[in-house]
Amino acid sequence: MPKVSAQGKTIECNRGSNLRKILLKNGVELYNGKSKLINCRGIGSCGTCAVQIEGDVSLVNWRDRTRRSLPPHSPTKDLRLACQTRILGDVRVTKFEGFWGQGSQITWTPEAKNGDKGEK
Ligand code: FES
Repeated sequence: MPKVSAQGKTIECNRGSNLRKILLKNGVELYNGKSKLINCRGIGSCGTCAVQIEGDVSLVNWRDRTRRSLPPHSPTKDLRLACQTRILGDVRVTKFEGFWGQGSQITWTPEAKNGDKGEK
């Protein structure tokens, strides 16, 4: 079974699982601030579930590519929309600051609950 490392947690899941659903189900803070309440619930239109992913996941789909081509996201950044991503193997997830997770400061890493302080 693939393993997902995010915010200091290691989560096992079935291959093909939706990354957003797995993170939320396991208490990972996928959304920053008020985007916890104001988001599209996984249809790929709001862009607030953006994360950086290392590992084996599905190819970028058109919803993901389209939303991340619009500000404040940038198509040149190495992010993915968790709601549009399927887990195919072990993955490591990092979240950046900002309402859409579009910032340059790390909010949390695969290993640490708080990226800046390195707390677990
Ligand atoms: S939850 Fe809105 S784009 Fe992913």
